[in-house]
Amino acid sequence: MAAPDDLRYTKLPLNNGAGAIPALGFGTLIPDPVATKNATKAALEAGFRVIDTAERYRTEKEVGEAMQEVFKEGKIKRDEVFLITKLWNTNHRPERVKPACEASFKKLQVDFVDLYLIHTPFAFKAGDEQDPRDANGDVIYDQGVTLLDTWRALEDLVSEGKCKAIGLSDVILEQVKDIVKAARIKPAVVHVESHPYLPEWDLLNYCREQGIVLQAFAALGHSGQPNLLEDPVITAIAQRAKKTPAQVLLAWAIQRGTAPLTTSKTPSRIRENFDVSAIPEDAVRQISDGIKSRVRFNAVVKTGVPGFIPRQK
Ligand SMILES: NC(=O)c1ccc[n+]([C@@H]2O[C@H](COP(=O)([O-])OP(=O)(O)OC[C@H]3O[C@@H](n4cnc5c(N)ncnc54)[C@H](OP(=O)(O)O)[C@@H]3O)[C@@H](O)[C@H]2O)c1
Repeated sequence: MAAPDDLRYTKLPLNNGAGAIPALGFGTLIPDPVATKNATKAALEAGFRVIDTAERYRTEKEVGEAMQEVFKEGKIKRDEVFLITKLWNTNHRPERVKPACEASFKKLQVDFVDLYLIHTPFAFKAGDEQDPRDANGDVIYDQGVTLLDTWRALEDLVSEGKCKAIGLSDVILEQVKDIVKAARIKPAVVHVESHPYLPEWDLLNYCREQGIVLQAFAALGHSGQPNLLEDPVITAIAQRAKKTPAQVLLAWAIQRGTAPLTTSKTPSRIRENFDVSAIPEDAVRQISDGIKSRVRFNAVVKTGVPGFIPRQK
């Protein structure tokens, strides 16, 4: 574990991949393209070295442009950025995996990614329509391909040097176990929603045993209701530690051994979210043991359909 003041620079070794992943990451699930590009630049300038995107977010082009502009300024080099993108559900058929990966590279203006994730374990009807629906409006799933078939195609991408590491997203523990059992290359990262209202302890313990990094999205609760940033346990620790609630949540996530991802369109919040330092160990325990609410903000894990669950304010 890094010294307290270095918490923001913590790196987690990728035992099932190459090198290490910086714990603190920035996600680009931002609907507006101009905001995506500006936020990605601001994140790199603030110090973030993990950028997470996906074919499905339709932000790869803007992320690519932002990275190029920052690289041209000469302050950061490509190999200092840990770039993540994801294979969408309509490209699970093995023969579609490499073309989908290469299409992502083109938009991102790169010739490799540090981590390629299967976005969800659900295969949708193959094709260019990202959200295929039948006449009743129901998703058309593809029963002709298994998660393992798709995983094998990702393993080939590692062998070809296109991806330094591969992983799973929006999975449950049993699905991770099945892939680990059958894999030639085990997942380096499992990327799921996780925060104090959804700590995923069983999954985290299994990942620790297997040397897999658990990357936690919606680490601040995605501005959902109930608002994690207003939880009394978090706000009391923030006041005591002279930090913001977001900084407390990010410190907790890193100190318990996960790699949190946040998103913001707001430059001051982007800087705040990188300015993370350790909280006392008793505060880490207080969050782990004292917060009993359980809330999942995103239902993608159940259906493969992206989207945060709308809640009454
Ligand atoms: N694999 C998947 O299925 C999946 C699903 C969801 C997300 N993800 C990834 O995970 C990333 C992070 O997820 P997320 O967007 O839910 O993260 P989040 O950071 O928990 O939530 C983002 C929201 O929090 C607000 N916010 C950010 N920093 C703040 C701060 N310091 N104080 C107050 N509010 C703050 C943002 O507002 P403003 O933008 O207005 O500042 C935004 O509304 C995504 O971008 C994406 O890369 C993956």
